[in-house]
Amino acid sequence: MFATDKLKIAVLVSGRGSNLQSIVDACRSGEINADTVLVLSDNSKAKALERARNQSIKSKVLQRKNYDDVATYDVALSDAVEESGADLVCLAGFMRILSKKFIHRFDGNIINVHPSLLPSFPGLAAQRQALDHGVKVSGCTVHFVDEGVDTGPIIIQSCVPVMPRDTVESLSARILEQEHIIYPKAIQMIASGEVKRWLG
Ligand code: GAR
Repeated sequence: MFATDKLKIAVLVSGRGSNLQSIVDACRSGEINADTVLVLSDNSKAKALERARNQSIKSKVLQRKNYDDVATYDVALSDAVEESGADLVCLAGFMRILSKKFIHRFDGNIINVHPSLLPSFPGLAAQRQALDHGVKVSGCTVHFVDEGVDTGPIIIQSCVPVMPRDTVESLSARILEQEHIIYPKAIQMIASGEVKRWLG
């Protein structure tokens, strides 16, 4: 890739797609030197697909139930990403664990956003975990994806206070605002070469 080339991004989603929206908006405004070439969803009802359609971005739905096993499904997912020509895979609320095969096919070129200050509270229901532990500060992380669950090298984080009366909903909303800021930033750090692809 030449320095002036735009980074091509495939965004994998399962639901609402607010992070997808922040990435697309940042591409469109020039805040990040990138284009979203594909939105890939494992859920045909994801609101993220509507967002992709509204922005005339190519989208594809691949549902696990239509494949015999996880291995075949993951090949279909990774084939779709490869066909899109994407340089970077961004997981944005994609609620499936990717196989080692998928991860190694795009080694060092997959990133994820997670709603906690990793390495605290990986996995599901991160905001619930934060409240249950009584932490006073939480936040979000964008990190490279390795074979573990939310364990790869950290690119950027942002913190938010946890208030005494917080619910999962109020804390999630506060964290989400920060996700929308740091995810495009992390992509631009990669697009500009400030952060090198991770070759783990
Ligand atoms: C975001 O809060 C993201 O951090 C989280 O799902 C939400 C998706 O929202 N991801 C995870 O918990 C992954 N472990 P969105 O669909 O509106 O972007």
